[in-house]
Amino acid sequence: MPITRSALAESYDRFLDHAAHYITEDADSGFLNLGYFTGTSMSLSEACARLTEEVVATAQDRQGPVLDVGCGAGGGTACIARHWPADRVHGANISDHQLDACRRRVPGAHFHLMPAEDLAFPDATFRTVISIEAACHFDRPRFLAEAMRILRPGGELVVADILFHDQPEVFGRFLSGGEIYRDIGSYETIWRSAGFADVACRDVTDPVWRGFVRNSRARALKGLMTKTLEPAAFRKALAFADKIAALPVSAYVIARATKPAAMS
Ligand SMILES: C[S@@+](CC[C@H](N)C(=O)[O-])C[C@H]1O[C@@H](n2cnc3c(N)ncnc32)[C@H](O)[C@@H]1O
Repeated sequence: MPITRSALAESYDRFLDHAAHYITEDADSGFLNLGYFTGTSMSLSEACARLTEEVVATAQDRQGPVLDVGCGAGGGTACIARHWPADRVHGANISDHQLDACRRRVPGAHFHLMPAEDLAFPDATFRTVISIEAACHFDRPRFLAEAMRILRPGGELVVADILFHDQPEVFGRFLSGGEIYRDIGSYETIWRSAGFADVACRDVTDPVWRGFVRNSRARALKGLMTKTLEPAAFRKALAFADKIAALPVSAYVIARATKPAAMS
């Protein structure tokens, strides 16, 4: 049985409220993703911001309106609002608690309580739809159909997504409803089936998933050696990195596609 939306939202809410127990630095950054690591000296929040910037750089439009689906606590949406006019930035999430954090973090933007599979906007509303590390929780074909509907002709969808070749065991049903993608090709197929054109996936498995694991282990060890991390916190950080390392990841991708210009 897949986890219910409310149970998923509550798990994230709890994680956010107790983030300092899991994240040893900058726990209030508003990010909830693995980050994009370019070196071992990057902090997690710097890497999370970098992942958002990589996604933003993949999109071409800067006019908006733009929608961030599965916007977490708004760390990513705040980055997005630095590239688009803030009042043309929208975020959607299934948790009121996280949306409150988003509203505090990005006051000029608009936040909506709605699931990715049922985006209650009129057809052809957005020039750009973005989603960062949230789609593993979605029913992706339904999300893609909604993204296609609410995008304007010629509009872009850009998604940072983690693909599993098996149902993850370590986090049970929390991370995935069981959609299996053995390779990037099978993932691109569902985008094409939804009607998207120019589908292109960039494989960022190394800087993101492996980068998170490498960096978490290195940071934990450094914390122990420099005595900024107690042994219990060191073991906890290491255990968390081990869980992420054990995930059955086939690829971490930044995927981009357009809605064909002739479609409405
Ligand atoms: C890993 S977090 C990513 C948050 C944010 N994009 C970031 O990069 O910091 C996943 C987010 O997806 C949201 N989410 C999960 N299922 C969803 C759904 N069906 N529709 C919309 N949001 C959903 C969760 O509440 C959570 O905020």
